[in-house]
Amino acid sequence: MPNAYISGTGSYVPPGVVTNDDLVKNYGIDTSHEWIVKRTGIEERRYAEAGQTTSDFGAKAAAQAMEAAGLEKTDIDMIIFATLSPDMAFPGSGVIMQDKLGFLEDTPHFVPCLDIRNQCSGFVYGLGTAAAMVRSGAYKNVLLVGGENHSAALDLTTRGRTVSSLFGDGAGAVIVSATEEDRGVRCWFLGADGRHAETLCQKVWDMKERPFIPVNEDGQGIVEPELMWAHMDGRTVFKHAVEKMITSLMQACWDQKIGPNDIDMFFFHQANLRINQYVQKQLGIPDEKVMNNIQKYGNTTAATIPLLLAEAEREGRLKRGMKCAMVAFGSGFTWGSAIVDW
Ligand code: ACO
Repeated sequence: MPNAYISGTGSYVPPGVVTNDDLVKNYGIDTSHEWIVKRTGIEERRYAEAGQTTSDFGAKAAAQAMEAAGLEKTDIDMIIFATLSPDMAFPGSGVIMQDKLGFLEDTPHFVPCLDIRNQCSGFVYGLGTAAAMVRSGAYKNVLLVGGENHSAALDLTTRGRTVSSLFGDGAGAVIVSATEEDRGVRCWFLGADGRHAETLCQKVWDMKERPFIPVNEDGQGIVEPELMWAHMDGRTVFKHAVEKMITSLMQACWDQKIGPNDIDMFFFHQANLRINQYVQKQLGIPDEKVMNNIQKYGNTTAATIPLLLAEAEREGRLKRGMKCAMVAFGSGFTWGSAIVDW
């Protein structure tokens, strides 16, 4: 059975920086830099330019990852795209990105595309899926992308400040490749608790109703604010996030018969710096082993971990032979961890 390793990483964030002060000045939100930094650690985030979509970000990150891996489009056997903010309700962003990447030019390469709907843990779910595909021998190179275009769907008013101050746009990508070398994805653990599906959700439509969005007498759809914008019970999310991130990480360590001290670098999902600091403290992990970038990007959901990986590689912090742990928790609730020998 081949091993599955990460042969290339890539990332992209749109250039538009939105600081906490910009949320007050440009959007009139009743918040402050101090409030947001104290509760979340976020200082700024990126917002898409008009016309940009999740597949645009994904394509840029993916192209970088393929180049880093030294692979051509024809070498890619499968695309997995994790997002909660796809270009459209359906189809998923994977097929749209496939086209934007030029897979269908000249001699079309009809590579299969799978979209993953697991919000903040989408990348770890995707990593497990990609590694399983590669280890089974079905595929040699899987392109895995996590991307979000949150800014299009944030209630950028005081009413929506609890959610809208947290999120930002961007994408990260990795290539999961087959190797006979003794390295790569060692294990992954995924979990879910659907009792909390509505603790953090964005409904937009209600499929129990006919039609699924209320219409006025002119036949135009009307979406009330409660349906249109994401809803979050932040305190409940926080409580479950720390618990599940710790147990999920420990599960991966037990599987590998190692302790947190044996890990060289930790890549936590970037939902809230305070969540990560709490997990770090509980497990006695020193600062130099943890990489956070929520300060400059906010929560980019499925993109957080691949963005971190790409940045860590470019900065020379993530090197061949390092033992890495990844862990994420998010809406669903869903969560996951993985241990990867880089
Ligand atoms: N600026 C100023 N005031 C605010 C803001 C803001 N940006 N957001 C909320 N407030 C106010 C609230 O309106 C409330 O005011 P009130 O007391 O007058 O009603 C007060 O602050 C306290 O609100 P809480 O929601 O109780 O604030 P809390 O201390 O819990 O912090 C936070 C909120 C930061 C969201 C926190 O709960 C948190 O980070 N939770 C985890 C969220 C998370 O991890 N989400 C990621 C998962 S994302 C995914 O899976 C897609």
